Amino acid sequence: MTSDVILVTGGTGLVGKAIQHIIQTEPPTSRFAKRPGETWIFASSAEADLRNPEQTRKLYEKYKPTHVIHLAALVGGLFKNMKYKLSFLRDNILINDNVLSTSKDTQVAKVISCLSTCVFPDKVSYPLDETKIHAGPPHDSNFGYAHAKRLVDVQNHAYKEEFGCNFTSAIPTNVFGPHDNFDLEDSHVIPGLMHKCYLAKQNNTPFVVSGSGKPLRQFIFSYDLAKLFIWMLRDYDDVEPVILSVGEDEEVSIKQVADAIVKAMDFKGDYTFDTTRADGQFRKPASNKKLLSLIGGFEFTPFEEALDYTVKWFVENYDTARTGLKK
Ligand SMILES: NC(=O)c1ccc[n+]([C@@H]2O[C@H](COP(=O)([O-])OP(=O)(O)OC[C@H]3O[C@@H](n4cnc5c(N)ncnc54)[C@H](OP(=O)(O)O)[C@@H]3O)[C@@H](O)[C@H]2O)c1
Repeated sequence: MTSDVILVTGGTGLVGKAIQHIIQTEPPTSRFAKRPGETWIFASSAEADLRNPEQTRKLYEKYKPTHVIHLAALVGGLFKNMKYKLSFLRDNILINDNVLSTSKDTQVAKVISCLSTCVFPDKVSYPLDETKIHAGPPHDSNFGYAHAKRLVDVQNHAYKEEFGCNFTSAIPTNVFGPHDNFDLEDSHVIPGLMHKCYLAKQNNTPFVVSGSGKPLRQFIFSYDLAKLFIWMLRDYDDVEPVILSVGEDEEVSIKQVADAIVKAMDFKGDYTFDTTRADGQFRKPASNKKLLSLIGGFEFTPFEEALDYTVKWFVENYDTARTGLKK
């Protein structure tokens, strides 16, 4: 029986809560189930501000992790990224440096850190794959976040080469699910639209979606992503990152997202697209070929089913969800 202690930094966020859910609910026969003897710790920023080396060290002293899934990060939508570039750069560099150096000092057997497909170069050939992370500057709007995240991959290689550490990283596409940030100003597209539609229904006002609705994106349900992190923890031992995403043939348009939200929310009011608002890039597909070749098959939750589940969670938990509103 194992006596592994798995520390999940950022354990209170969208992805951390999803890993906790899978660990608590997966049947024992599942390959993603909690194993006998494993202890899982889901850390919040209140327990340790990981920008601070001393607090990081104390967290490690308290739990003595053997494995770390490192999710903690300053995360935000476009507006926040554009406004706070230095904070995104500096906070994330500090958090990552403290987690990786403390993991090395305390002989953690494996660390999986989290990058994002939005840190890839602005001008790049598609589909994105794991070899293209450093192939050009990131988009100007999020260069602070992007450079800090890219540096994790550089750090992982340096830790491996100098100290033989088993550090690697995952690269998810857009994630959604329960416990997301549903702030109206500063959220990603799915939670933002859910909140907008919810308010339109409550207030009997039109549901207006910014842009034409035509751009295509890949979205991964947080519970699916959680399973893929658990797979990486158990079965992936290479420093090179792995893109964790649905396939390129599973892109959905923003209109499909909005239609699915309208349906799940049972919204009967006026529903329009504000085409005077910018659309962003039409598509930026990422390849999941490496993932599928390694994991040997994985069944992603159908998009509408996952979206429906998330809408129900949001409506049931509106009073406590992260909506950015004072309640
Ligand atoms: N959401 C996406 O679409 C997406 C896509 C690709 C990659 N990612 C990556 O996935 C990871 C998790 O993202 P998420 O969406 O789950 O984010 P999230 O919901 O905003 O959660 C962020 C987590 O980081 C913790 N955190 C923030 N600053 C911290 C600090 N100074 N010290 C300790 N903990 C700190 C937060 O703790 P408290 O809540 O306790 O403050 C929270 O648990 C991040 O690395 C992100 O870059 C996310």
